[in-house]
Amino acid sequence: MNQIQHVAIIMDGNGRWGLKKRKSRNFGHKIGLKTVEKVLKQTIKKKIKYLTLFAFSTENWKRPQKEVNFLFKLLENFLLDKLSEFHKNGIKLKIIGKKRFSNQLNRILNNAEKKTKKNKKLQVNLALNYGSKSELIYAFNKLKFKKKAINEKIISSNLFTKNIPDPDLLIRTGNTHRLSNFLLWQLAYAEIFFEKKLWPDFNENDYNKILLKFKKIKRNFGNI
Ligand code: FPP
Repeated sequence: MNQIQHVAIIMDGNGRWGLKKRKSRNFGHKIGLKTVEKVLKQTIKKKIKYLTLFAFSTENWKRPQKEVNFLFKLLENFLLDKLSEFHKNGIKLKIIGKKRFSNQLNRILNNAEKKTKKNKKLQVNLALNYGSKSELIYAFNKLKFKKKAINEKIISSNLFTKNIPDPDLLIRTGNTHRLSNFLLWQLAYAEIFFEKKLWPDFNENDYNKILLKFKKIKRNFGNI
């Protein structure tokens, strides 16, 4: 059976869920947070060491200002509310992406990272203002004046995910089959699970089923 060290998730479908319930897209985001909590608990229970959540992409800035503001306020309140609990539960929080937010949110994020940095149970990487292409461009620009030949290890160690093992599996909810500029380098050998359910409907049972399926896959990494 395959061991699981790192799960990555594209939490898609909040907006559609909110509208389906005859409410707003933002209502979907709000309820989506409850799924985040369920998945966090389950990830700790399964003794998985890394969880990466795609919360806001470099492309998501194109959304209406009202939705963007709502998402960041939601995140702010979520962290203010839950940080102590996360800390108590041994969660280490790391932001991947460029921290270009309001001073207040930047402060909250920096504080959350600092407070939890020694925790060991589960590292949660929150991808915020994250885009894989811009991450790679940033890394290549840092490397371009170095005389040494570039290799895989050097590229990996210049990404936001430096020192984090690549994800073993990627889950994308919301019945959409694409990577959306998420961890393109790091997912090179990940097993990908596309889930029909919208993120707010995704639950512990769905998550466990995927983890079990992953464990049983024969992974060849190019071999036979
Ligand atoms: C994708 O659904 C979801 C997002 C862009 C944001 C994800 C946010 C949450 C799960 C809640 C907030 C989380 C944190 C950690 C603060 P979508 O809006 O693209 O859905 P759609 O495909 O139905 O439009």
